[in-house]
Amino acid sequence: MKFIITGAAGFIGSTLVDRLLSLGNTVVGIDNFSTGQRRFLEGALSSPNFNLFQIDLLDLDALKNVFAGGEAVFHLAANADVRFGTDHPRRDLEQNTIATYNVLEAMRANGIKRIAFSSTGSVYGEAPVVPTPENGPFPIQTSLYGASKAACEGLISAYCEGFGFQSWIFRFVSILGERYTHGHVFDFYQKLKADPTCLPVLGNGKQRKSYLYVQDCIDAILLAIDRATEKVNIFNLGVDGYCEVNDSIGWICDELGVKPRLDYAGGDRGWIGDNPFIFLDTQKIQALGWKPRFTINEGVIKTVQYLRENEWVFKAR
Ligand SMILES: NC(=O)c1ccc[n+]([C@@H]2O[C@H](COP(=O)([O-])OP(=O)(O)OC[C@H]3O[C@@H](n4cnc5c(N)ncnc54)[C@H](O)[C@@H]3O)[C@@H](O)[C@H]2O)c1
Repeated sequence: MKFIITGAAGFIGSTLVDRLLSLGNTVVGIDNFSTGQRRFLEGALSSPNFNLFQIDLLDLDALKNVFAGGEAVFHLAANADVRFGTDHPRRDLEQNTIATYNVLEAMRANGIKRIAFSSTGSVYGEAPVVPTPENGPFPIQTSLYGASKAACEGLISAYCEGFGFQSWIFRFVSILGERYTHGHVFDFYQKLKADPTCLPVLGNGKQRKSYLYVQDCIDAILLAIDRATEKVNIFNLGVDGYCEVNDSIGWICDELGVKPRLDYAGGDRGWIGDNPFIFLDTQKIQALGWKPRFTINEGVIKTVQYLRENEWVFKAR
């Protein structure tokens, strides 16, 4: 098949590009390289089945041109950083919601009707039900990132109803693994490189979080688009459990062989909009036959190992 992937040079997008190419598909990658890395696509670029376009999703005319001939879209491009939303309130609206509207319009202009979308567990805000199922109470938003992704989900569902589209919406927990370039392991690694004797920690370290290894995430996405047949298919993606930030710090420090003093900022959360307890109910995706192969602990260690072998990513980001 000919797939279009937005955010093709990103952490998850480039991993998906490689997987789809390895399965014999043709892939059109789109990225503006705001956070994406050309080096992630070195392998893909040597394939005759891969075409890369440096385009900003806010440029609807350019998007309409490169979508020509596509059969389905994986829309992963976004401002993927939840933490700094209040520093620039327009960014999530533009990079997530307006960009998604443009993707939907470019699809409509080209008669493409299938879209897989990377949403987030952040759309649940501080969910009253944990583990949180896909059909829990309508959530109250606590971050501009979550709000913008919830709006994307709304637009996508409405295009399914209004224009006969079919969608697969994935609400991920935080993703770990090779090509990881943002998130708590990245931050802690960077801080420990600068000073292995002291580690500043946002909040009190007792925040409970769930993580998923990137290849497990890709497995789930591909299984779902193959097997789930509703008009709008919504899946939580995560492991069956969670850890404390303190647990993760312990694994990272063990792997790096350091024993820093932990300097807590205090409070029960790291930043405005940080959810102190994220744990998603993943029975729906598991019922399709998917199970993650790696635990949170293994995902954290694989991520540290990747960062150690690829310290160039700290300069690139
Ligand atoms: N990494 C996670 O833990 C996580 C968790 C939940 C959801 N997600 C979602 O998964 C998707 C991928 O995340 P990621 O971690 O790979 O992030 P990433 O920053 O590595 O990838 C995003 C990619 O999109 C590109 N991009 C951003 N804005 C663009 C624009 N206007 N036009 C064209 N390209 C643009 C970036 O250059 C980058 O290559 C995002 O939608 C993110 O919100 C990620």
